[in-house]
Amino acid sequence: MSNNIESILQENRVFKPSESFKKQANLSESDYQALITKAENDYEGFWCDLAKEKLTWSKPFTEGLDDSNPPFYKWFSDGELNASYNCIDRHLTDKEDKLAIIFEADDGAVEHYTYKDLHDEVCRLANALTAQGITKGDRVVIYMPMIPQAVFAMQACARIGAIHSIVFGGFSAEALRDRIEDASAKMVITANAGRRGGKSVPLKAAVDEALEKGGDSVRKVLVYKHTDDAVKLKEGRDVSWHDAIAGMSNYHDAVMVNAEHPLFLLYTSGSTGKPKGIQHSTGGYLLNAHITNEWVFDLKDSDVFWCTADIGWITGHTYVAYGPLSLGMTMVMFEGVPTYPDAGRFWQVCQDHGVTVFYTAPTAIRALMKFGNNLPEQYDLSKLRLLGTVGEPINPEAWMWYHQVIGRGECPIMDTWWQTETGAHMIAPIPGVTDLKPGSCTKPLPGIDAHIVDENGVELTHGEGGYLVIRKPWPSMVRTIWNDDARFVETYFAMFNNKYYVVGDSAHLDLDGNFWIMGRIDDVLNVSGHRLGTMEIESALVSHEWVSEAAVVGKPHDIKGESIFAFVVLNIEIPDEGSERMELVQALRNHVAKEIGPIAKPDDIRFGSNLPKTRSGKIMRRLLRSIAKGEEITSDISTLEDPSILDQFMQPNK
Ligand code: PRX
Repeated sequence: MSNNIESILQENRVFKPSESFKKQANLSESDYQALITKAENDYEGFWCDLAKEKLTWSKPFTEGLDDSNPPFYKWFSDGELNASYNCIDRHLTDKEDKLAIIFEADDGAVEHYTYKDLHDEVCRLANALTAQGITKGDRVVIYMPMIPQAVFAMQACARIGAIHSIVFGGFSAEALRDRIEDASAKMVITANAGRRGGKSVPLKAAVDEALEKGGDSVRKVLVYKHTDDAVKLKEGRDVSWHDAIAGMSNYHDAVMVNAEHPLFLLYTSGSTGKPKGIQHSTGGYLLNAHITNEWVFDLKDSDVFWCTADIGWITGHTYVAYGPLSLGMTMVMFEGVPTYPDAGRFWQVCQDHGVTVFYTAPTAIRALMKFGNNLPEQYDLSKLRLLGTVGEPINPEAWMWYHQVIGRGECPIMDTWWQTETGAHMIAPIPGVTDLKPGSCTKPLPGIDAHIVDENGVELTHGEGGYLVIRKPWPSMVRTIWNDDARFVETYFAMFNNKYYVVGDSAHLDLDGNFWIMGRIDDVLNVSGHRLGTMEIESALVSHEWVSEAAVVGKPHDIKGESIFAFVVLNIEIPDEGSERMELVQALRNHVAKEIGPIAKPDDIRFGSNLPKTRSGKIMRRLLRSIAKGEEITSDISTLEDPSILDQFMQPNK
């Protein structure tokens, strides 16, 4: 194993929690130790006690973990609750006038919503959805910009027991159609357009395109008019949001559901072409969403929390739409981009709304770091007290910049490791307790049984890299892949005979028990903190009429983490160098953007007469990775059928 997965990162700096932070922290060292001990001695009791203490149940559960049918685990499965009730109604007694959402639009306009406002908006929409024929268990696809109405839509679905499936607004009509069809969605909720960086992003047009050639399950499209862009409504199918809620009552009795009732599906890339509909539960998911906001972000009544993630990703579910609200927090939502009108925008938003806890991705930190210290220094960031990162390993240089320039050398940095499938943070520091090391996500949270094993499933203690696995089921774990139990078992459990949940990342442990994530073990790229399957991009390329074969690999990238490098074989002659070749490159990039979305556009495309394959027909990706990195090929290429094609692929387009 150590030959395959080798760790090269050496980082010895240690940052201990400050005395002042410790004094006010939600979890003290002794609280933390007590949780760890309780989880070790009475695993099920540990989670049951938390579930009783943190969530409000309409019917209390008597069962904790049901592991009678592994790996299809259930938690609290005879209990009933409603996620929206837990996020809104239960706060109304003492927090009616507290701000729930501070929204800053792309153009700088600001809106405020108290918990009472949130309640009224969500109830009106829940009543409207019911009036449109949506009931418990129906799937509703949400394709919205990053505006409060997106959260209202999620909460309204949860309130009536409908299962939402958010499709990121940057995905194309084709990607949207695939997801609508896989989920057999009955409704799509969208907006006419979003605004990002001063430009309109048409959304309703993409929905129309998606439904033109499929998506037959969709009965209604609910359209929020967010911008001045014109919008055409299709008779009988499309309903204006404003009309739908007009006259609706601001009272709605939340529909209580079983703890195992699916709260949402969220599609994520895998190593095969077809995205997986990750299915999350209501009770277990909400519990981990709640406690991680409390433990890892140390959130308190006085905080203003800002997670910059879009609701199209899991981070926007757990740390925007559900977790902070279940704790009754005030949070910021921002529609725009970090570099518009200039690269000080994040810091301006932090200053203007008094953000105290800020959570973003390493790719954004690296991008903003490039602009120097001058921009953040123009803003008053003195209210910030804790910073977080997610999505990929953060390089120590970016960690230090974040800590010193944004966090004044005072804010602890929470490097949180988790996944769409885990629902919430799994390996992350506890801010008043854990010693931090730049680049490490530190230690598993109490109750999370994370380990590193070799290919035989034997536990590795420190030094060597291996497979990251979670041994015991935890409440917010993925329940299945929508409509595909077999793929669920195969993807996450088959490798070690259903004994462990296999994460798909490699990692190693240091002598202090800190985890260092090393990367993916499958054909999945991490581009700007988002997972993209290489095969998905390959399928998109091959669907172009002139492409017969394609292979995609990742290349390390300063800002994005990884960039996308594609090797393409054409069924027409390779155009000569010059404008014709460049036009083809552009056409293929645009084609991928149309099939998946702009984030999947290859950064580089090279052409050759064949892909490098072994005599048995396997694509030699290792060689392609070397070419992408511009490395000299020193490895053995004697098994390669036609070595001359490597020269073709090495030539940059001119
Ligand atoms: O490879 C790990 C990386 O992102 C993957 C999960 O991607 P996704 O489901 O899209 O969720 C992203 C947001 C939770 C993981 O398998 N990853 C996520 N966080 C970290 C990370 N890698 C290293 N350090 C992290 N903090």
